[in-house]
Amino acid sequence: MQVSLSDICKTFLIDGAPVKVVDDISLTLERGVFASVVGTSGCGKSTLLQLLAGYYPPDSGQIITEGSICLLPQDDLLLPWRTVIDNAAIAAEIHGSDVADARHRAVELLPLFGLEGFGNSLPSQLSGGMRQRAALLRTYIAAGDFWLLDEPFGKLDALTREAMQHWLKQVWYTLGVGVLFVTHDIDEAVLLSQRIYVMSPRPGRIIATVEVAPNIDDVDRLELKKQIKSLL
Ligand SMILES: Nc1ncnc2c1ncn2[C@@H]1O[C@H](COP(=O)(O)OP(=O)(O)O)[C@@H](O)[C@H]1O
Ligand SMILES: [Mg+2]
Repeated sequence: MQVSLSDICKTFLIDGAPVKVVDDISLTLERGVFASVVGTSGCGKSTLLQLLAGYYPPDSGQIITEGSICLLPQDDLLLPWRTVIDNAAIAAEIHGSDVADARHRAVELLPLFGLEGFGNSLPSQLSGGMRQRAALLRTYIAAGDFWLLDEPFGKLDALTREAMQHWLKQVWYTLGVGVLFVTHDIDEAVLLSQRIYVMSPRPGRIIATVEVAPNIDDVDRLELKKQIKSLL
């Protein structure tokens, strides 16, 4: 199962003038593969995810999506008046699919998402890490094949972020989803990914595709980080 983008371009009107934001991007996501996109702020990372999720069409190029895909946006918030389970089942409500089934699946997944005993809690009763895990639970209930994650740990403190990175890797492995993870943090990308797409400053192009060996040692990891940093 795959999602593939070929030769995607997108131009926005910025202050009345057309600005090319995404330039000729091709990439393929596969189920079970963890890929990241790194690039500086404003290079078009969020736009790329929004194109993949079908929020709006590209100006040119082709997107082929097999399976279900869900974007967790950068500034996403859980609805504060709804419990964890009610938030998790929201896509089923919106799409008119089986809400009882979505709620049931969410309850079963609470332990994996580190939310056991918190299904009936409101977002305000959760820590920052738990809120992000609840948002990811909702993402998984909405679409079980591909996750597009837009800087999901950017607002967490360093210790929580580190715990969440290890947790995410475990959950990705357990569920076998395909992930495209956007970050401007090279360390985070190298820690989590099997493949890293490096984007140039605007207009965003993919200037390198870096494979991270599963058994990479500390020396090679450091070298890889230096190599990516030199490209940005
Ligand atoms: N809907 C939009 N309309 C106009 N300009 C946009 C829109 N979305 C993004 N942009 C512009 O496109 C550029 C890239 O934005 P974005 O994809 O959010 O970058 P990144 O996520 O890499 O920081 C920015 O200059 C931003 O202002
Ligand atoms: Mg962004």
